[in-house]
Amino acid sequence: MPAKRIVFTGGSGKAGRHAVPHLLAKGYKILNVDLKPLDVKGVNTLVADLTDNGQAFNSLSTHFGFEGYDEGKPPSPPDAVVHFAAIPRVLIEPDNKTYQVNVISTYNVIEAAMKLGVRKVVIASSETTYGVCFAEGDKDFKSFPLEEDYDVDPMDSYGLSKVVNEKTARAFAMRYRADIYALRIGNVIEPHEYDRFPAFLADPLSRKRNAWSYIDARDLGEIVHCCLEKDGLGFQVFNATNDTITANIPTAEFLKRYCPDTPITRPLGEWEAPLSNRKTRETLGFKEEHNWRKYVKG
Ligand SMILES: NC(=O)c1ccc[n+]([C@@H]2O[C@H](COP(=O)([O-])OP(=O)(O)OC[C@H]3O[C@@H](n4cnc5c(N)ncnc54)[C@H](O)[C@@H]3O)[C@@H](O)[C@H]2O)c1
Repeated sequence: MPAKRIVFTGGSGKAGRHAVPHLLAKGYKILNVDLKPLDVKGVNTLVADLTDNGQAFNSLSTHFGFEGYDEGKPPSPPDAVVHFAAIPRVLIEPDNKTYQVNVISTYNVIEAAMKLGVRKVVIASSETTYGVCFAEGDKDFKSFPLEEDYDVDPMDSYGLSKVVNEKTARAFAMRYRADIYALRIGNVIEPHEYDRFPAFLADPLSRKRNAWSYIDARDLGEIVHCCLEKDGLGFQVFNATNDTITANIPTAEFLKRYCPDTPITRPLGEWEAPLSNRKTRETLGFKEEHNWRKYVKG
């Protein structure tokens, strides 16, 4: 079988620069679409602003490189689109711009994908949809574990943009009977960032906003890989986190100590991440490779 052709947006960013090489190693052909270049051998970057629907449409209907011209015909649509491009949190751009860029670019990418006949799209949603990450003040989660059927309720423009993007994905998946999977990505940790963990462990409340969970950027690439290989699920939401809590106390005991008023809705695995990846493991077959305990002493 020829290698699947994947358009990956936002591949030049923090998550993408690890996820793209991971996917390349799995044998996919990849075109990166971003405002900035990516220095990965074998991956061309098309510089495009995805808030412009013409540029989004063209980004999904172009050759991946000069070798495409040897085939003597215009390119077919890609086999899948992975949409990570975004303003990745509050306080980088004004709130209205964060909302506008994230919502419009996601609409443009999904619409172009569907109208070009692409059958699989994976989009980056966020832990912030669970409402605590960028809340004003000390907001409690409604219950633990945080799972995909939670009544998401962010109060900030970034988290809200991600909730809207999930709705956009659901609408297009329904209309086109396509697979669109939204990844509620936890706090992304790059390989060099494990030196931050001792401070996380020393000050547990500092990680409440991330629900004491994280995703290794390379394992995030593996979750995307699992999404690309699983078909027929329609619209889906998957938490994209690693398996275990970022604490040295088992999860149930930890939550009882630090969130005594928050109900626990099912038995928890001994070290299960409160932002649970159970569905991602059970439905997609995801297996983590980079548990934090491999890199952090104590
Ligand atoms: N970093 C995290 O902890 C985290 C957590 C949850 C979700 N996410 C989501 O994961 C995705 C990747 O996050 P990241 O941390 O790699 O962010 P990043 O800012 O490092 O990378 C995003 C990339 O998108 C590109 N981009 C922004 N606007 C664009 C536009 N209009 N057109 C084309 N490209 C554009 C940027 O140039 C950048 O390279 C984002 O959707 C983000 O919201 C990130």
